[in-house]
Amino acid sequence: MSEVEVLEAPVADTHPARGTHLYLSGVTVAFDGFRAINNLALVVGKGELRTIIGPNGAGKTTMMDIITGKTRPDAGEVFFDGNIDLTKRDESEIANLGIGRKFQKPTVFENLTVFENLELALRYNRGTWKTLLARLNGEQRDTIDTMLAQIALSERRSEQAGALSHGQKQWLEIGMLLIQDAQLLLLDEPVAGMTDHETMATAELILSLAGQRTLVVVEHDMEFVRSLGAKVTVLHEGSVLAEGSIDHVQADQRVVDVYLGR
Ligand SMILES: Nc1ncnc2c1ncn2[C@@H]1O[C@H](COP(=O)(O)OP(=O)(O)OP(=O)(O)O)[C@@H](O)[C@H]1O
Ligand SMILES: [Mg+2]
Repeated sequence: MSEVEVLEAPVADTHPARGTHLYLSGVTVAFDGFRAINNLALVVGKGELRTIIGPNGAGKTTMMDIITGKTRPDAGEVFFDGNIDLTKRDESEIANLGIGRKFQKPTVFENLTVFENLELALRYNRGTWKTLLARLNGEQRDTIDTMLAQIALSERRSEQAGALSHGQKQWLEIGMLLIQDAQLLLLDEPVAGMTDHETMATAELILSLAGQRTLVVVEHDMEFVRSLGAKVTVLHEGSVLAEGSIDHVQADQRVVDVYLGR
């Protein structure tokens, strides 16, 4: 633990955030008086896979904006890894803590090869450029090779990222977060625009990470959400409407009324 965190001593030993990986409580944010997030609570354990569903405008993306420091909450607690108060950190500090975010639109370097994209991500790790000009050592090459296999892009390694399909670009971007050692990954609609085959492969990739990384996945594709088999949190009007297994939330009449039945 760094000196800064010791001095900060943000939470007591008895605080409920202790032992959690991501902890939100009483979080509220308003835009021009409209409460996009309203007394939101969310607790995700280390290594947990959590899916988030809810209607358009429910506050799913805004919740990710708050976790990553893009938006400051008006009230409430946001803790990472038990005792790190994210409301006191800026976006780059939060990224350097190991919180990686994927937006809906892929943001890879189109003119670089697949391999080079991963190489850049590996060299730019937690806010510092590591030996930008030095040749990659064997261990670094192995790390990139392993990641290429994990994201099913080994055969495309020498091609420009711009030539990849939409789904493959998404995988490359997830690979870039993984190779930067992100411990908490926030994926906002990762399978939007993917083919059925790509969607299935993405579910497999996410499931292969379960237990090793903490994942919070927002999706509208219910078949995909079901295939992940994880606990589901339903957001509505900035708050948690229901939480539990997919069968549990799908059987909840309020969830049907505001989301599934529409
Ligand atoms: N920066 C902002 N300024 C003003 N209003 C905002 C801002 N960000 C979000 N909102 C509003 O907050 C509400 C929640 O939006 P958000 O994007 O979080 O919903 P969402 O659950 O991600 O929806 P979708 O499923 O369509 O992506 C919406 O009414 C949106 O218009
Ligand atoms: Mg959204």
